[in-house]
Amino acid sequence: MKLTAPKGTRDILPSEIGKWHFVEKQFMEVCSLFGYDEIRIPTFESTEVFSRGVGDDTDVVQKEMYTFDDKGGRSISLRPEGTAGIARSFIENGMGSMPFPIKLCYNITAFRYENVQKGRYREFHQLGAEAFGSAGPRVDAELISMISLFFRRLGIYDSMLRINSIGCPECRKKYNDSLKGFLLERYEGLCKVCRDRYEANPLRVLDCKDERCKTVTAEAPLLSDSLCNDCADHFVGLQEALSDLDIDYEIDKRIVRGLDYYTRTVFEFISENVGTQGTICGGGRYDGLIDQFGGGCVPGIGFALGVERLLMEMDSRGLVPGENEKVSLYIASIGDETVALAHRLCFDLRKNGIAAETDLTGRSFRAALKYAGKAGFTHLMIIGKDETDSGVVKLKSLKDASEKDYDLTDLVERLKEEFYG
Ligand code: HAM
Repeated sequence: MKLTAPKGTRDILPSEIGKWHFVEKQFMEVCSLFGYDEIRIPTFESTEVFSRGVGDDTDVVQKEMYTFDDKGGRSISLRPEGTAGIARSFIENGMGSMPFPIKLCYNITAFRYENVQKGRYREFHQLGAEAFGSAGPRVDAELISMISLFFRRLGIYDSMLRINSIGCPECRKKYNDSLKGFLLERYEGLCKVCRDRYEANPLRVLDCKDERCKTVTAEAPLLSDSLCNDCADHFVGLQEALSDLDIDYEIDKRIVRGLDYYTRTVFEFISENVGTQGTICGGGRYDGLIDQFGGGCVPGIGFALGVERLLMEMDSRGLVPGENEKVSLYIASIGDETVALAHRLCFDLRKNGIAAETDLTGRSFRAALKYAGKAGFTHLMIIGKDETDSGVVKLKSLKDASEKDYDLTDLVERLKEEFYG
């Protein structure tokens, strides 16, 4: 039987890895400009991290998590996202006693057992950031401006930003009652999962992906219409801070986000090019999460963007990552006497940062030339007896066929200077 990658996963092949490196590098550079340091967390955590952090009633925990008992009988889950694991790490590593704000960024794989479709995978990649220790709306705007600058670096200048506020637990108590009343009247129209959960967590019905629930909730009351004064002020503060930074946005009162930890600010970057859901990036404030994990009252805000969806967006806009072409050199030796010299030269070039290859498969000289032409090298160098006798080698550009002579004695130094200044 033919072996294939599991449904919802995909190989990222050498032919596309350049785009990934480009996007990842730009992201990390922008994060560093804003003072975010990279954190790496485990791929799996105790299931409790997600059931308590993301929330037992969410689709992510109820339907989509890869959960299993390990050989020691512990319940383990592959991370469906990064925030809960980072909150766990924040507390475990005593970050609460370090000077605030703590700003962390990450590049992770995440796993969700979802219905696979365009832009929706079971293993996917997220670039994200979290800022702990600052409750005011300025940090929210700063975080959003970081995403905006990152998009600009990729060539995306128009705003896809939608913002909303879903208030604090106090505003939500009041709202939940009116939403429950609304849902009870339409109980028969809900999917099975939402019938079970609407009483304990009615907000989750609003982000259910089931078409029946989407229809039922189209006219539901809006949380942002029941904000308390403090939350309403915070939301106004966010809008002012975004305007101060010239960040365009739209208010979308229907955004509630699918994870339980959110409070106040929520936001998404939306595009119609990335599949039915359209969200390239999502995030928000989670002022109660660290406390819920036993780490005290530390406010937090963050976001994650889906790299697969971002690359789809770039593709559909015709944005080809403009990485400089790397110089790569192929050395073909004529006869056995120069094989060792070719290998030594390759090593010298590599030590000096120049990618170089020579034959490792016993190809004839002619076959080696053919291979160099096909394999995408930028330059070809031929070494035989004539070259070792004269001490001069020719370097041929495989792009435009131009040729140039080099002395073997200072070849590496000169190439380094010419290629990399
Ligand atoms: P999320 O909205 O669940 O938020 O996911 C963030 C992004 O990950 C989405 O906007 C989407 O681009 C991508 N994504 C999610 N699921 C899939 C999938 N099945 N296939 C492909 N891409 C996907 C979070 O994960 C939060 N942790 C974000 C956050 C950080 N909030 C605060 N801090």
